Amino acid sequence: MKTTSQIRQSFLDFFESKGHSVIDSSSLVPENDPTLLFTNAGMNQFKDVFLGLDKRNYSRATTSQRCVRAGGKHNDLENVGYTARHHTFFEMLGNFSFGDYFKKDAIHFAWEFLTSSQWLALPKEKLWVTVYKTDDEAYNIWRDEVGVPAERIIRIGDKSEDQPYNSDNFWQMGDTGPCGPCSEIFYDHGDHIWGGPPGSPEEDGDRYIEIWNLVFMQFNRQADGTMEKLPKPSVDTGMGLERISAVLQHVNSNYEIDIFETLIKEVATQLNVTDLDNKSLRVVADHIRSCAYLIADGVVPSNEGRGYVLRRIIRRAVRHGNLLGAKESFFYKLVPTLSKVMGKAGDLLTEKQAHIQKTLKAEEEQFARTLERGLSLLEDALSKVENNVLSGEVAFKLYDTYGFPLDLTADVCRDREISVDEAGFEKEMQAQRERAKASSSFGMDYNNVIKVEGTTIFEGYTETTLDESKIIALFCNGESVESIQSGENAVVILDRTPFYGESGGQVGDSGHIFTEICKFAVNDTQKYGGVFGHIGQLESGSLSVGDTVKTQIDEQRRNAIKLNHSATHLLHSALRQVLGTHVAQKGSLVAEDILRFDFSQPEAITKQQLEEIEQIVNREVRKNSPVTTEIMDIETAKEQGAMALFGEKYGDKVRVVKMTEFSVELCGGTHVTQTGEIGLFKLISEGAVAAGIRRVEAVTGEKALEWVQRQQKMVQQSAELLKADSASLVEKIQQLQEKAKRTEKELQQLKEKMASQAGADLAKQAENINGVNVIIQQLENVETKALRTMVDDLKNQLGSAVIVFASAMGEKVNLVVGVSKDTTSKINAGLLVNEMAQQVGGKGGGRPDMAMAGGTQPENINVALAKAKDWIQTKL
Ligand code: ALA
Repeated sequence: MKTTSQIRQSFLDFFESKGHSVIDSSSLVPENDPTLLFTNAGMNQFKDVFLGLDKRNYSRATTSQRCVRAGGKHNDLENVGYTARHHTFFEMLGNFSFGDYFKKDAIHFAWEFLTSSQWLALPKEKLWVTVYKTDDEAYNIWRDEVGVPAERIIRIGDKSEDQPYNSDNFWQMGDTGPCGPCSEIFYDHGDHIWGGPPGSPEEDGDRYIEIWNLVFMQFNRQADGTMEKLPKPSVDTGMGLERISAVLQHVNSNYEIDIFETLIKEVATQLNVTDLDNKSLRVVADHIRSCAYLIADGVVPSNEGRGYVLRRIIRRAVRHGNLLGAKESFFYKLVPTLSKVMGKAGDLLTEKQAHIQKTLKAEEEQFARTLERGLSLLEDALSKVENNVLSGEVAFKLYDTYGFPLDLTADVCRDREISVDEAGFEKEMQAQRERAKASSSFGMDYNNVIKVEGTTIFEGYTETTLDESKIIALFCNGESVESIQSGENAVVILDRTPFYGESGGQVGDSGHIFTEICKFAVNDTQKYGGVFGHIGQLESGSLSVGDTVKTQIDEQRRNAIKLNHSATHLLHSALRQVLGTHVAQKGSLVAEDILRFDFSQPEAITKQQLEEIEQIVNREVRKNSPVTTEIMDIETAKEQGAMALFGEKYGDKVRVVKMTEFSVELCGGTHVTQTGEIGLFKLISEGAVAAGIRRVEAVTGEKALEWVQRQQKMVQQSAELLKADSASLVEKIQQLQEKAKRTEKELQQLKEKMASQAGADLAKQAENINGVNVIIQQLENVETKALRTMVDDLKNQLGSAVIVFASAMGEKVNLVVGVSKDTTSKINAGLLVNEMAQQVGGKGGGRPDMAMAGGTQPENINVALAKAKDWIQTKL
């Protein structure tokens, strides 16, 4: 049996022997062709030669071209893993004539290579061909010169009348460029596989597979749709290497050929997977090929264009690895096996192996950090999904925060038969673009624009409103300005302010700056060097540098922030008490609705530890201790055991925030006066953010109460649904689960019993016609496979028998005919099923003793069954 590498070589050898120059595959990144994302066909590198714009010193060429069909117009990414023949990466074998030979030689070459005993030696009767509906020339060559019987030559027309040339037998590279009618060669994988010849209603089945496309290049399609004649008629052909390998290696799925067998085994070994049929193995095996070659051809993972397609493929592979149980980076480890199994085409990979592996590993590690958290967010959202549609908002959050490409989210949803609201996703995306644009109207980075001499005095530790502040500078559209007008977005710099400028994790304050006649809404406050910038929009009036204004912060919001900030200090101490003094702050967010704290901690935190932490913090809250702040020199602060951020620069004088001995920290933030104000502290999540760093999130005060109430409501609703009280909820769920398991088992037994009963009933109804048991029956909603099993069982029970079943499933008709071996001389199941199929708008066939067919007219099942009865009666 030939290996895929040998088949590739045979092809090139054959065409070399026919005077073709063997040319290397071109890069996956098309040179100088902005109309194309990736090389997707062998002819790409010869586009200009076909158009007469480029001349070569040969007029015949042959290649094995690496191709990627992911992203852009030809996008197969989402189908990979779910079908037998879709790939992100494949190799296309091709022969090309640039104004040299045309249809006649192209057809003869293809036939010789496929059928000659010297080359592939495929049985001629297994090959079918198609031609474009009006292409009599090609039709006649196939029929009269090659000798293909007319019933295996099919003319294929346009998909609709108003779209000329939109046909499976008219090939175009893209919306513009060289194109022409084509003739395709199909291989019949045999009647044990479902499917019909091209052009039939069952053509999408896996039985008849296109292996080679011969394109007779004649036109250059213009952007307006007109067809200009090419200078000279030419030939471009493409044969999928993986498909022809499947044929020669006697397998029906591309994923069973030698290359994929080796790759799938390697993935399984790396991940300790034993079930080699798992479809995720196929996805990973497919994706490593496109990713490795794309990187070899110079693409790097990024957030746009080709780089983003690469990133999406890598992330999809990593997620399927995760489904297979991957605990660490694995994808890059597949590269050496891939280089080897690709034979000569793998040389490129071997040469760049170190670079490919490094790139893959870095991307994989970066994504792995957020994958689990993203998946758990998605799981959570999926459990609440309504109408089987995931909201665009969730999909966008996954994209924006966790790096989930949209198709990856769709991939996870697809397994649950849930779709994604793509329009909603786009809307969020657009909104984000606009936000980015709005903030960039200040000149991208405020820090580079706002340089003001002097300082803003912060009065916000004691005041929430001030009657007199002076505007010392204004910024609008990225520039320092003297005044601003109503409606304008701007940054206002004041000499003194109650607004807290974002720092130490605490978010900036919001509120208003105003006078008798104007009002400026502050959305955020940031520090720029020594000054505070109040960011927002002038809602009415106008403001100028030098004006005196009043200020008022949003007090309610500030209060909520204060609770979270003080609670963060208590949490920090509690973490050190429970987990150890290695806990060091790595990041923190103190906002009005949540507090988030990142810290060094090598291992996961147990549920008991979390409970203990929560208890300690709440105990300190209930003590209602005073919170004091004191300015002292850094040495004194350290002596008092104040916790400070390592590596942070502090001035000589520092501010120390104390909650008795329990918590002493250097901090510039705003705090409660008594710990009791926090009310309630509730942890709501815990997880890893990076190696050795964990994150907890918590809520306080009113938000904590709301959180608890929501949880309680959920428990109550669940209890109501289950007709239990909250206390016995868990027990009730366990009981229900057990009951469901029992019921399922009983149902299964019952189904089996019914099937055998139905079989026995049918057997009883058999009519004896001249010593043969005949059953002709219509059954409701039964799949072909099940019909076939029933036919097999009945054949075993009945001895001499003819069994005919028809079943409608929606718009589809399934027909199965079984004939016992001793009766096939009189009744041929294949002929009978075909006769019946014609009554229901279908075609079919098969072996003399077992045959199947499909149809599209359930309303004619009666006619088909009557026909069967007549037929059987006359033949027996
Ligand atoms: N360029 C032709 C194809 O891709 C051969 O099918």
